[in-house]
Amino acid sequence: MAQETEPVTGLDRIAEIEREATERLAAVADEAALEGWYREYLGRKDGRLSGLLRQMGKLDPAERPRFGAAVNEAKERVQAAYEGRRTALETAALGARLAAEAVDVTLPGRPVEVGTLHPTTLMTRELSEIFALLGYQTVEGPEVEEARYNFDLLNIPPNHPARDMWDTFYVNSSHGEIVLRTHTSPMQARTMLAQDPPVRVVVPGRCYRYEAVDASHESIFFQLEGLAVDEQITMADLKGTLTEMARQLFGAETRVRFRCDFFPFVEPGVDFSASCPACGGKGCRTCKGTGWLELGGAGMVHPNVLRNVGYDPDRYSGFAFGLGIERIVMVKYGIDDIRNFYANDLRFLEQFAGTRI
Ligand code: PHE
Repeated sequence: MAQETEPVTGLDRIAEIEREATERLAAVADEAALEGWYREYLGRKDGRLSGLLRQMGKLDPAERPRFGAAVNEAKERVQAAYEGRRTALETAALGARLAAEAVDVTLPGRPVEVGTLHPTTLMTRELSEIFALLGYQTVEGPEVEEARYNFDLLNIPPNHPARDMWDTFYVNSSHGEIVLRTHTSPMQARTMLAQDPPVRVVVPGRCYRYEAVDASHESIFFQLEGLAVDEQITMADLKGTLTEMARQLFGAETRVRFRCDFFPFVEPGVDFSASCPACGGKGCRTCKGTGWLELGGAGMVHPNVLRNVGYDPDRYSGFAFGLGIERIVMVKYGIDDIRNFYANDLRFLEQFAGTRI
């Protein structure tokens, strides 16, 4: 009787160990615990399921195969459960790692700082477009210039007092007299020397003057030169052209004023002003109560200049003008100090963000 119940008890024992192993496996939470668990139940030497096989000697030989088979079946199920658990733990660990390393692609990006065009650049482009519509080509020239172009060819001979009109930076050089150009007018001579009439160009560019700096004078500033040479060009063309420019810049009601002035390379010479866009010409703070804003100098190209570049003054005539680019920006946007332009203060420069030309 005892011999008959022994295998049954043995089988119960298998089921008991299997249940315990399965329950404990469910509670295993990490790899280390899983290894400990494995050694305890499935370990080759002292695992509790393998241990049962070693007890088989105590069984009735007739019962041994059934018992052995039951142990092996139990081992296989527990092994399968172990593998399932291990996969689950690995998956969970991977999931946790991915979650920890996750990138939220819906987060808004960090703003990229984008620069803006400088107000001088914006105005240069605006002027260039206005004159393009009037048939003018935009050209550029050197800022470090030969005195020949800056002065001599423009009817300002050496030692002539007219050179003192421009406070000049001279450059040390063994290649003749070199200056930082004091105006964009040297490009008048360069352009005419390089081509035959008709000429219609505007020349924006940086100029330099050895100047006491104040709210309306900088030693570095930009000018726009204009030059038109052809047969039968008259002062009326000059007036019409600058009137159109002023209207494009400040509005259709703008009026222009020309007064006599002297520049060695024009005859007659004028300065030109536009009616103040801030007050319509009535007089205000912007125009200092005068109703007018002076924009630059102009005149009919001097016959000596035409001769200097090989043009026949009896056949050709032309007009030229030069205006301060910053000055126009100042008038248009109500800026009262030219030093703002090149002080690199972002609070000033950023105000032109989004202004497009
Ligand atoms: N170049 C002159 C200046 O800078 C301006 C000017 C240009 C005057 C063309 C007449 C004609 O003062």
